[in-house]
Amino acid sequence: MSNDVIFSFHHIGLACKKLETEIRSHEMLGYKKESTIFVDKTQKVKGIFMVINHFRVELLEPLDKESPINNYLKKGIRMYHQCFTTRDIEKAIHFLQEQGAILVVKPVEAIAFDQRKIAFLYLRTQMLIELIEE
Ligand code: NI
Repeated sequence: MSNDVIFSFHHIGLACKKLETEIRSHEMLGYKKESTIFVDKTQKVKGIFMVINHFRVELLEPLDKESPINNYLKKGIRMYHQCFTTRDIEKAIHFLQEQGAILVVKPVEAIAFDQRKIAFLYLRTQMLIELIEE
């Protein structure tokens, strides 16, 4: 790990066909709602955070046909990103790019995080990573 770029785990993102069905399914497993349902028109998603013990998932339903989540659902992929908070998002992006990551969503304010900046990158392993600025 380089100098002072530190990543803290925040959540795993799950692609969902139907948010309400998925909320009930996670409640069955013991998850509790951590937020109300949010709509992010920039990312074209409707979502909610749920927690169990110290683990957090983000359930995400596509807002429309253009939503990138549709691509994962079509392939049967459910867990599609992991998210970390970091102090300086630009610095973290630069660090990951140096390791061969590709920036797919440039830093943009996110409604789910009180307008804090988020960004998405693909690591060389094709793992999709979301960053949230602390
Ligand atoms: Ni996320």
